Amino acid sequence: MSKIGIIGAMDLEVDTLKAQMHLNKEITKAGMTFCEGTLNGTHVVIVKCGIGKVNAGMCVQILADLFHVTHIINTGVAGSLNADLDIGDILISTDAIYHDMDVTIFGYAPGQVPGTQTAEFAADSHMVELAVASCKAVNPDITCRKGRVVTGDQFISSKEVKERLINVFGGFCVEMEGCAIAHAATLNNLPFVIIRAISDKADDSAEMDYPTFEREAAKHSAKLVADFVTKL
Ligand code: ADE
Repeated sequence: MSKIGIIGAMDLEVDTLKAQMHLNKEITKAGMTFCEGTLNGTHVVIVKCGIGKVNAGMCVQILADLFHVTHIINTGVAGSLNADLDIGDILISTDAIYHDMDVTIFGYAPGQVPGTQTAEFAADSHMVELAVASCKAVNPDITCRKGRVVTGDQFISSKEVKERLINVFGGFCVEMEGCAIAHAATLNNLPFVIIRAISDKADDSAEMDYPTFEREAAKHSAKLVADFVTKL
């Protein structure tokens, strides 16, 4: 039977889902509160991991070791790196890459972690297709794209940095946890997908747009996830 770990970085990314779930038990570990129960009849563990890569990676490990989840979903918001992805639109990950891992001096690809074969961590293709189908079903008026998630421990709010992320990594959106979740899920042989709604354009307008649109964007992503878990 499937048991889905659902990770958001912030309260607003998990609150909508927690409000809809039937809660069986709550366990706090490493400062994170894991809420176990059912969401639309599917077994889930919903957790706010906190911001950044270390929190995200640790959260996946706890979901694997303590809760024995079978799948990982990361839901939340992101900055757009693609002209076709506007605020409120949704990006479903094909893969994820770090933009702040750089061992290129020793011949590794940009973003590649020494010891891994490739720089990108591939999302589970079955989960990707189911997430796209859910998005079309519950958010029919919202543009939904598949593409690469670019992750690092920085909030990106500059046109120059954004251009570099597009040119070097070919990403569709940038955020601060996805690749760490992908990396930890891959190390544990857990299928994963990242679902992000766009809250800003990761350029000089991001500082203004992010606080204005984060709540609405997070709701789009959560709505999709509530439908998606029933398909796994
Ligand atoms: N999450 C939402 N917007 C972001 C941005 N511009 N940079 C990093 N993480 C984000």
